[in-house]
Amino acid sequence: MLKALIYKDKSLRVLDQRVLPHRESWVCCRDATDVAEMIREMAVRGAPAIGIAAAYGYLLAARQRAEAGGTVTVQQLEGAYEELAAARPTAVNLIWALNRMVRCLESLSAQAPAAQRVGLLEAEAESIYQEDLVANLAMSQVGASLIAPGNWVLTHCNTGALATGGQGTALGVVRDAWEAGRIEGAFVDETRPWLQGARLTAWELQQESIPYHLICDSAAASVLASGKVGWVIVGADRVAANGDVANKIGTYSLAVLARHHGVKFMVVAPLATLDRDCRDGSQIEIEQRPAEEVRSLAGQPVAPTGAPVHNPSFDVTPAGLVDALVTEAGVVRHPDGEGIQRLLS
Ligand code: MRU
Repeated sequence: MLKALIYKDKSLRVLDQRVLPHRESWVCCRDATDVAEMIREMAVRGAPAIGIAAAYGYLLAARQRAEAGGTVTVQQLEGAYEELAAARPTAVNLIWALNRMVRCLESLSAQAPAAQRVGLLEAEAESIYQEDLVANLAMSQVGASLIAPGNWVLTHCNTGALATGGQGTALGVVRDAWEAGRIEGAFVDETRPWLQGARLTAWELQQESIPYHLICDSAAASVLASGKVGWVIVGADRVAANGDVANKIGTYSLAVLARHHGVKFMVVAPLATLDRDCRDGSQIEIEQRPAEEVRSLAGQPVAPTGAPVHNPSFDVTPAGLVDALVTEAGVVRHPDGEGIQRLLS
């Protein structure tokens, strides 16, 4: 299976998603600063993959201290924690993974030697990676089982192997639904401005010979009006305690369009993306990305020089527009505070 992250020889290799699909280039990260930069610059992206990369970034910081003969404590790794945590604000998986690494370190006695601490952190980062792979498989099966055969689906952004530790969240559902003969194929939004759909999702589907049509984001309304699509299926960067969903900019428009056209709307996300401390969508910090992402396309200017830009990277879909929230622990139909609480307990 395609992998976006490989931990090998005491470094984290990142498949550089900035240059896909036309170039397959790997970047080698040797410390937490390298990893934070790759997250910030979106060489690695997608909420679960960001969390996995951050866990390895924390491990690299610990390893560096141990190899220099220093001790490895939560306090000493605070700088690395802060640097990684600040890399991107919206995907809660980033903080979730870092907090797991911290708890792991705290579980050791004060006398534990640095080598033992690094060993435990390495095992924890590996578990975070493996657990995401397993969660992907569970979600894919459950999500696919909700789809009545005979239609197409529509998906947004990239939620596949490139964005996770396994086969993906929403795109994992597309894969399993295709294998089970439940869908005719997928409409893929190009996902301006960063083009995760055009560059990454189309590339993944092509490699797996799953039928797809790439569409401009603005074509989604007429595609949904055509009656060909049974479900819109997306991932999430953060799900609030009341079921509101932050995901790639354009997701909210799709949810409104889906409801208008009687098309079902599915959100697929691991439990790590659920933020019980976040009351509702209004509390989610929405990342603003650089103006150049909008003013240009593949490095070519497409707007007047210096055109003022508003470029939020995510939006919030109110829980009321979601028909099914699929996690590895089960499905919540029409998610709300009670449904999410039942799932988490
Ligand atoms: O800015 P990105 O590419 O990191 O945004 C990714 C998304 O919005 C995905 O839909 C989300 O992270 C879920 S990925 C399984």
